[in-house]
Parts: sequence; structure tokens; C-alpha cells
Amino acid sequence: QLIHYIRETVQPEKGIIPAYLLGNPTVYDVEHEKVFLKTWVFVGHESEVPNAGDFMTRELSGYSIIITRDKEGEIHAFHNMCTHRGMKLCRADKGNKSSFTCPYHGFNFKNTGELIGVPLEKNIYGSTLDRLKMSLHKVKLESYKGLLFGTWNDEAEPLEEFLGDFKWYLDIVVGRAEMEVIGAPQRFVVNSNWKVGSDNFVGDSYHTMVTHGSIAKLGMVPNATYSKRGYQIYTENGHGLNLGTPNPDFAFPEELKDEYKNNLSEGQYEVLANLKNMIGNIFPNLSFLISHTKIKDQLISNTSIRMWRPLGFNKMEVIAWMLVEKNAPQEWKDRSRDSFILTFSPSGIFEQDDTEVFTDITEAASGPMPFHKNLTYNYTMGLHREPVEFIGPGVVFDDKFTEASQRNFYKYWLELMTK
Ligand code: FES
Ligand code: FE
Repeated sequence: QLIHYIRETVQPEKGIIPAYLLGNPTVYDVEHEKVFLKTWVFVGHESEVPNAGDFMTRELSGYSIIITRDKEGEIHAFHNMCTHRGMKLCRADKGNKSSFTCPYHGFNFKNTGELIGVPLEKNIYGSTLDRLKMSLHKVKLESYKGLLFGTWNDEAEPLEEFLGDFKWYLDIVVGRAEMEVIGAPQRFVVNSNWKVGSDNFVGDSYHTMVTHGSIAKLGMVPNATYSKRGYQIYTENGHGLNLGTPNPDFAFPEELKDEYKNNLSEGQYEVLANLKNMIGNIFPNLSFLISHTKIKDQLISNTSIRMWRPLGFNKMEVIAWMLVEKNAPQEWKDRSRDSFILTFSPSGIFEQDDTEVFTDITEAASGPMPFHKNLTYNYTMGLHREPVEFIGPGVVFDDKFTEASQRNFYKYWLELMTK
């Protein structure tokens, strides 16, 4: 019945999105099953487990998983559940271990998944225990340019197919050079539906001049309409981004120009060289951001990826990883980190502006009233605009003030929800 109602009331192609999608617990439950258990979901970056024996525990759509690197350097992912009687096998966030011992009865599993030790096995089981059958449950994991994605869906298309044309842009964010995560990811909880975050990053450049107006007043960005210039782009499967351009200054380390050119096509390099900022979202909930800030009169870029991890219909954990070029000078890395913390982090100016808006939108959408009164949002900006030719793939609009990418996000969401 709910699916039927969703099919009737969610009309992205007309620019109509009902408020109950953000504030209804049943929608959230169905979403978990039809979206989060079906698609690829981000779980971490390869550089977070750089050495043999490194591991980290992460969450994949509501279930804990362990990501390990074995002694051959290969990365594995397992359901963090002991195959004996279901205890959570590993309770640390990260560390280095070649095997894991279950805290309940002490079964020991290698970091490649095999059961290698059972307390008093001969004594209790004799030779009846089929160790092979008791290996940890493997999680489907694939990597694109260091980004690790997992899925619970055995039938999911290969990750590269799911990303499709969007890879062209993603390369500029995470594949332009050898990139590494600095430190542990920042984590904080916001009382917001996860879709508000994805929606904001996939297509909402329009809010920048108002929500973040104080930053223009402080002189940290040029003027109030700086967020309009550039392109809004979307590709299949709900992915989308906003490309701020042109920029007369090169905001990346000069020393790495050759590395960039080696890793990118000519067209991709041209985009990078003229980049002012880049903000986007990989469906469903992995956003990314390249932004430039002026610190002590020097323009410096910072790159981050962030996940809007749902904790309920009205709550999410934001997990933000800061990425930096591994071969950049240390001094540049430090300044880039400073600019990230100043702008996007719990203490960052942009982050505080945004999360306040996210919270209030979610609050107003919550409860039965928005559902019964059929409250809807207006997503009609740029509805009849024609796309333009561009150097990169996808459907591209000249200037970023349109809601085309949000409509595309909800179009794919609707497709999955009503499948
Ligand atoms: Fe893990 Fe028994 S539940 S050893
Ligand atoms: Fe914002």
C-alpha cells in the first residue's frame, strides 16, 4: 500500500517530492530493504588499512563488517559475526591482527576468514566439526580508485558498472593522484534524514549564497553569487555533481602537475586545472567535496568524502574522511587539513550552517501530519532547461542553479523503492 502511494505521490519528473519521504518511519524501513540492502554502499578507503594485518570495522547498511588486509596485501571483508553462535567477533574500530578470537567461546578466525582454532576441539567435537563450512561470511566488496564499496546484494552489478559515466568525474576527486586518508574519519550525529544530506550535495548550490552568506561577508569567498557559475551534471543511477568553474588560480600543489596529467585524461585535467569547487553525491549516500579556501592570502584546496549514514528516519551519523595527495609536500598537506577543518568538520563554518538547516527540515517533515496533509516540496528549478555540450559525460547544465540532479537522485530512489 505504501509502495503504491509512493508511486502515486513522488513525481521527480514534475518537480514534486512529498515531505513524508523524510519524516515517515515506514518509508525508512522500506528504504533500508529496497535501497540500502540492494545498492553498493561506501565502507572506507584502502589507505585506511595500508599494511599487512591491518583491519577496521565498519558498518554496511546496518550490519557490522570487518575489513582486513592479509599478508599478501589483499583486502577482504567479512560479516562481523562469529559463525559459531553469532557473537560480534571484533569490537575494535581498527588495529593490526592476523587472526580474531571470538569473545564468547574463543573460536579463532584468520584474517582471510578461515576458522583456524577451536578451544578443546578434539575433546568436545572429535573430528565432527566442519571447519571449512564455518569460515566467516564473506561480504561482497569492490574497490574503485581506492574507494571501497560493499553490498549485501549478491546480484548487484559490478561496482564500475554502477558508477558508470560518473567515474569520469570521480577520477578527478579520488584518482587524480595517489590519495590517502589523513587520520581517522570524523564522526558526528545530526538529527536529520540522510536524504537531506545527499540532496544538498548532489544538486543544491542555490543555498550557498544564503545559508553560507556570512562566509562571503567575511571575505573567504569572492561574492554572494559565486556558487552559480559552473555546471550541474548528472549521470545514470542517481549520481550527480556541481562543478564550480572557472578559476584563474591553480589551487593544487604545483609539484604534482605531472602526476595529475599521468592519471587523468586531457579533458579531466582541464577540468581540474580550472576548478573552483566540486560537490557531488554517489547514490545513495556518499558525498564528496573539493573546495578551495583562502588562508593567509593563499588559495588551498581540500578534498573530502562523507557518508550520511542513516540511524533512523530522523537521525544520521556523518562520517567524513579527509583525503590528500600522498606525494604532496608535508607543509601543503597540513594547510589543506587546516582548510578542511575550518570549513567542513563539526567546528567548520559551512558544516554548522548546513546541519542546522538539515535538522529543521527533518523536524518539520516528521510525524503523521505531513503525510496526511500531503505536503510537498518544490523541485521545479530549471525543469525545462536544455542540457549543453560538455567535455565530460552525463547530462550537463550550464550554471549550477537548477534542481536537475536532485530530480535525478529521486528518480533512481523511486525506481528502487517501487521495484
Ligand atoms: Fe563465537 Fe561461540 S559465538 S565462539
Ligand atoms: Fe552548504
